[in-house]
Amino acid sequence: MKETKRNGKVLKHILTMTDLTAKEIEVMILEAIRMKKELREGKSHRVLEGKSLGMVFEKDSTRTRLSFEVGMTQLGGHAVFFSPTDLKLGARETVADTAQVLSRFVDALMVRTFSHDIIEELAENASIPIINGLTDEHFPMQVLSDLMTIYEKKGHLEGIKLAYLGDGNNNITHSLLEGCALMGMDVSVATPKGYEPLPVVIERAEKIASQTKTTIELTHDPKKAVKNADVVMTDGWTKLGATADVSANMRIFKDYQVNEELVAEAKDDYIFMHCLPAHRGEEVSAEILDSEHSVVYDGTENRLHIQKAALVELIK
Ligand code: CP
Repeated sequence: MKETKRNGKVLKHILTMTDLTAKEIEVMILEAIRMKKELREGKSHRVLEGKSLGMVFEKDSTRTRLSFEVGMTQLGGHAVFFSPTDLKLGARETVADTAQVLSRFVDALMVRTFSHDIIEELAENASIPIINGLTDEHFPMQVLSDLMTIYEKKGHLEGIKLAYLGDGNNNITHSLLEGCALMGMDVSVATPKGYEPLPVVIERAEKIASQTKTTIELTHDPKKAVKNADVVMTDGWTKLGATADVSANMRIFKDYQVNEELVAEAKDDYIFMHCLPAHRGEEVSAEILDSEHSVVYDGTENRLHIQKAALVELIK
């Protein structure tokens, strides 16, 4: 990717976890925790007054829109929302033209779209930071929030074992593989055959893991993945923007449902995580999602705090 300067600083995008170093992630988590605490004490952080964030959504969202929009308001800035029918990336004009035009109006752009190529093209042509709010291949903002939640709950990231169950060929798994390897965590991914993560992502994550001396395990055995895990995570079995075929999913993924039998393999004090929306009785049983081990609502709230830390870092 070309290197451009903005306000005297190198223009930075967050398209994948590998756009960040472990140090940058650590600083972001600590900043987010500080701002979260101070917000609860009544302190405001209006450090982005007069700044604007564009938000392009080509897929549905509850949490991502809320957390970015509320985050910009709390930082004293403004967020402009584009629904799937507004911009129509690549249809009304070229993606490159959209990138150049938006760069003249807003200070950063958050994009939720289908193909990862589109967000890369935006970043190639923009003179503002581009933030990946989910593509089919990567979801770094969710994984940054997950890492913050794990840090809060466990007090550290290094040495933590995270088990992910279900569809491995999705954005969460890809960003987890990269993020966990960067932060010194062991990750075990259990998927049905044919639902493994993309080879290019596995290769990249394994390269990082060899430097951070961590383990990446890919297996078809869900119990093996969950064995001694500190964190058990899953995601919906239907990709966002696709039509759910619940009975087909049950046939393919049923052995990977996070339930009492499976979590018996995890450590006694394991935490359960899910980026939401969740489907009780499909990828996770209601007993687990609503159990005392579940930190899903804390995890969702942290989207707000970690993204505020990221916005300050990228825009200020
Ligand atoms: N987890 C998450 O991004 O939720 P939304 O799809 O509702 O934004």
